[in-house]
Amino acid sequence: MPAAPCTHLILFGATGDLARRMLIPSLYALDVDGLLPSTLKIVATARSGHDTEAYRAVAFDALAQAIDGERRPEAKITRFLERITYVPLDANQHKSFTALADAVAATDHIAIFLSTAPSLFGPTIAGLAHAGLAGPGVRLALEKPLGHDLASSRAINDAVAVAYPEDRTFRIDHYLGKETVQNLIALRFGNALFEPLWNARGIEHVQITISETVGLEGRVDYYDGVGALRDMVQNHMLQLLALVAMEPPASFDPTSVRDEKVKVLRSLRPIGAAEAGHCTVRGQYGAGAIHGQPVPGYAEELGRASDNETFVAIKAHVDNWRWQGVPFYLRTGKRLTDRRSEILVQFRAVPHSIFGHAPLAPNRLLIALQPDENVRMTMMAKQPGLDREGMRLREVPLDIGLANAFADVRRRIAYERLLLDLLDGKQTLFVRRDEVEAQWTWIDRIREGWAAHAQAPKSYGAGSWGPSAAIALTERDGVSWHD
Ligand code: BG6
Repeated sequence: MPAAPCTHLILFGATGDLARRMLIPSLYALDVDGLLPSTLKIVATARSGHDTEAYRAVAFDALAQAIDGERRPEAKITRFLERITYVPLDANQHKSFTALADAVAATDHIAIFLSTAPSLFGPTIAGLAHAGLAGPGVRLALEKPLGHDLASSRAINDAVAVAYPEDRTFRIDHYLGKETVQNLIALRFGNALFEPLWNARGIEHVQITISETVGLEGRVDYYDGVGALRDMVQNHMLQLLALVAMEPPASFDPTSVRDEKVKVLRSLRPIGAAEAGHCTVRGQYGAGAIHGQPVPGYAEELGRASDNETFVAIKAHVDNWRWQGVPFYLRTGKRLTDRRSEILVQFRAVPHSIFGHAPLAPNRLLIALQPDENVRMTMMAKQPGLDREGMRLREVPLDIGLANAFADVRRRIAYERLLLDLLDGKQTLFVRRDEVEAQWTWIDRIREGWAAHAQAPKSYGAGSWGPSAAIALTERDGVSWHD
């Protein structure tokens, strides 16, 4: 039975970057489309000593930045802002939480979104519980980073579990809110075509790329010492891998989907000290150019030398029957050539060619997640013509350009989906504790492997596709990255 929709949303970190860029605009978009419960009140809170009027001005500016003018008629903006009240809060003061509880004036049908520094999770949860805001009608959503290794992630999860059981805890991986990532599930399980081939007999390898052109973006405090492995692979990339590799779930309910994902995550072949050298590549960008504009190197941006990686490439394996012997090549990095998130599934070659010497390229399925949304299957077709030497074949694309197929549908911010599901109490697109822990277990081994060999990041020029060692990682297997 679906849980009752919420009447209150408490937003911690309401003056922060995520709230202004994503959460407030997403809530507004849901409101405009009539998707928020009509009685929903948004209680925004942060350290700043604003009052409600001042915070509404902050929210107004955030909407002006994020939403096109024609989607911001005054009446709708006013109606949305009237939902918001602001309560200043010091997470280390219990009396702050009492004031918050008084402002909420309810103990049920409440969703709480923690978009704060992880160091505040513990005191915030204790304060919420103290103020009676952790009862059976209260859900808690948490943003990353949820720890920096398995032990610290367990400590956070334990602190959460004291007040909020797993069925009321909503761990966010914003990639799961992306329309195209959900489309991966639709593609695999809404079509009969793929499943018979979706295994080691049909698939030769898989590539997952999340490349970015941005650099540090003023996130020095967070990013240096975290690095690409923990910032991107531990969460987003492993979630994508799990969705590609999981067995068909019995249904789209939270338990079925997350049970299948966690099995994949637990089947990841450990990469430790013996394997890290040949299965992983760490990189750090030096100076270069992005789209023709010169940009400084990482150390220069940082103002000092660092051994933090801004790029990582990994050859991973899922050790189960379905995927035995199929490499999953993962790579992600900052200051690369292009901004692009995609999954490439390379099928096996035909077992025997009847076309003599005409080369046959194996079929490929390219699932482009962003910035373009596209699903492309490459197939061999006869090249038109009357050749005496025999039939010529050429690789041709079959495109499902999602932008065209669904041109009339507005693309949603990932947080619209996630906030709506949080308010509705639907957990399928949120990450369960056992998934997070399986992810950290695999990541920690890699970091131990790096530490054992003092594996320093290799330099790459900003605007390139990463260090040359990343190319060698796949070329050794006769595979080229899809650039
Ligand atoms: C975040 C990382 O989780 O994801 C950032 O902390 C990264 O470093 C971002 O830039 C990428 O998200 P998206 O949605 O822009 O691909």
